[in-house]
Amino acid sequence: MYSGASNFVEGVDKAFMLIMGISIFFLIGITTVMIIFLFKYSRKKNKKPSTNDGSIKLEIIWTAIPLVLVMLMFYYGWVGYAPMRKVPDDAMLVKVTGKMWQWIFEYENGKTSPDLVIPLNKPVRLDLYSPDVNHSLFIPAFRVKEDVVPGYDNYLWFTPYYIGDYEILCAEYCGLMHSYMTAKAKVVSQEEFDVWLADFTPIEKESEHPGLLIINANACTACHSLDGTRLVGSSFKDLWGAKKIVLVKDNEKEITVDEQYIKKSIYDPDAEVVQGFNKGLMRSYTGVISEEDANKIVEYLKTLKK
Ligand code: CUA
Repeated sequence: MYSGASNFVEGVDKAFMLIMGISIFFLIGITTVMIIFLFKYSRKKNKKPSTNDGSIKLEIIWTAIPLVLVMLMFYYGWVGYAPMRKVPDDAMLVKVTGKMWQWIFEYENGKTSPDLVIPLNKPVRLDLYSPDVNHSLFIPAFRVKEDVVPGYDNYLWFTPYYIGDYEILCAEYCGLMHSYMTAKAKVVSQEEFDVWLADFTPIEKESEHPGLLIINANACTACHSLDGTRLVGSSFKDLWGAKKIVLVKDNEKEITVDEQYIKKSIYDPDAEVVQGFNKGLMRSYTGVISEEDANKIVEYLKTLKK
């Protein structure tokens, strides 16, 4: 537990152990007193009920002691937390994008990576962005966790102290594949990092299809997979030209997935739902996705056909 993998481990663990210790003390203490009182003040031994009209002394004691305890918790919590918001000026900057359902780490030289590779003993600042829904970047070993919220610029920083691989998780429920939204933090030596960072063989950014950009921008893949996985809605893979049974006012009808059907599905999703899928789960994208963008999506779906 006291692995010391980052500069924040000590502060967080101290606060945690203090609160844990106080909690265990009171759990045992209160339970013990309850059991003792059960016997001591039982009806058999106290035929005549007595009352107590209060005691100033008691009031002061049970106000003062908890006050001291919570102030102690506050103090250690604050001492552990405050430095997390003060980023050193020499921190290395990495832009982190959390989206359904993956992490992307982008370095200042433009290199992007699915894993966070960082040099040993060097402070690193992560700027957190989300294009779709709330996520939360959580690296348990480093004791850092911050929400990644669309439209809000959040950040976190730390200094890694040991070489090794550490888990990165998403700690905010963000949809079906939330639990698969993982990555690795790889702490390497400065030399190894320099080589890795410079190895900037620009992975032929096969210019992303304009239709895929629209799909990603609207987070369509939250419900429609691109690889055939069955999610809330039909997978986009092999969808183009496929014959499907749809329900129109509870009557079955066979259709071929063509341009007209795709557009209908975008603008009036409940009109003709493919059998086996549910109504009312998708909103209309009228006014959100333009006719022109819908055409791009159609073109992209054509490329997903085997
Ligand atoms: Cu992203 Cu949970």
